[in-house]
Amino acid sequence: MYRLVCVSCGASYPPDEILYNCTKCGHLLAVRYDLPALAVSRKIWDSRPLSVWRYRELLPVTIEPVTINEGGTPLYHLKRLGKELGIPHLYAKHEGMNPSGSFKDRGMTVGVSMALQLKKKSVACASTGNTSASLAVYAAKAGIPAVVLLPAGKVAVGKVAQALMHGAKVISIRGNFDRALEMVHELCLSHGLYLLNSINPFRLEGQKTIGFEAIDQLGGVPDRFVLPVGNAGNISAVHKGLLELKELGLVDSLPMMTGIQAAGSMPVVRAIRENLPEVIPEGDPETVATAIRIGAPVNAEKALTAIRTTGGLAESVTDDEILAMQRDLARKEGIGVEPASAASVAGVKKLIEAGAIDRSERIVCVVTGHLLKDPDTVIRQCEPPTEIDADLPSLLAALRL
Ligand code: F0G
Repeated sequence: MYRLVCVSCGASYPPDEILYNCTKCGHLLAVRYDLPALAVSRKIWDSRPLSVWRYRELLPVTIEPVTINEGGTPLYHLKRLGKELGIPHLYAKHEGMNPSGSFKDRGMTVGVSMALQLKKKSVACASTGNTSASLAVYAAKAGIPAVVLLPAGKVAVGKVAQALMHGAKVISIRGNFDRALEMVHELCLSHGLYLLNSINPFRLEGQKTIGFEAIDQLGGVPDRFVLPVGNAGNISAVHKGLLELKELGLVDSLPMMTGIQAAGSMPVVRAIRENLPEVIPEGDPETVATAIRIGAPVNAEKALTAIRTTGGLAESVTDDEILAMQRDLARKEGIGVEPASAASVAGVKKLIEAGAIDRSERIVCVVTGHLLKDPDTVIRQCEPPTEIDADLPSLLAALRL
């Protein structure tokens, strides 16, 4: 029903081959379905609950999946923020409402299921935090061991707590995410662990369902999809899924894929701005949005195609802009997200104010992870609680009543 196909040279491999790169040219592989042969129908999808597995005909898993109800996340209409920005059709897809608190669960339900389908006995990843938390959760559910490599001192505490509590072997390396990914890749090739970073073509299949769900919830294709970009897997995955819907005749247009990066870590934005054929890696990325603190995004090639072919945009936002939007989402919309997630909406604000986006557009921002992932960054921005003696006069004084 599907093959693995190189995104660059088109070389094709059988579906059960355990490969992360094309053996001919070294580029990444993607799952290519024989779409006309699939029994996909809107009617069947509509009869199932909103979730990753609603779209199972467009997923590679044939065994009983490892699932804990991922997907089916809310799509919120940001009325108050939209009004302030003068855009009436601004939406946020809150991926922080997944079981482990980030969109990674969509990828991991598929990726860990594929590990079992391919008879792998252990799984591994490098991570800025969320991937490791999610992998730990799904490996626990599957009953197989997980190894995760983190950049020491640069992972939000909630994510480390999850990886530890769900039983992964957590290794902190004295290096950044990009180095951790190189190391875990080598480990998996030499020792047979199954690699579940976004170079794994199956994991991204799960993540493409963000786009499917948003279209179903909105009742049509938005004009623009806006995503925070780190390793650039998610924006590529959503684009791939939407191309499949178009080829199947289930949608007739594609949204403008728009990627937002942190100003201290913006190789994709640079490549778009300067019209480069590929990204130039940044050696020392830095941002408060540690989830997207990535200088050498492995999926950049696909992300550049997604942005360019859909007429999308790429923009960077400063740490201050990210944190201001994190507060705005929390206080004006009741939506709690981690800094990387606020980047998508902060990017829209910036693009609107620069006149780069038409105010009548229907815009879906993907907010990727939950507020509680990174409580330290939250606490640092807020006044501490007011401590008082346990009597009413003290309470009234504290409230200035
Ligand atoms: N937002 C959050 C909250 C993330 O955790 C990530 C990536 C992204 C956005 C960017 O997605 O990499 O597909 O472009 N986190 C990875 C991790 C790298 O290890 O958890 P991307």
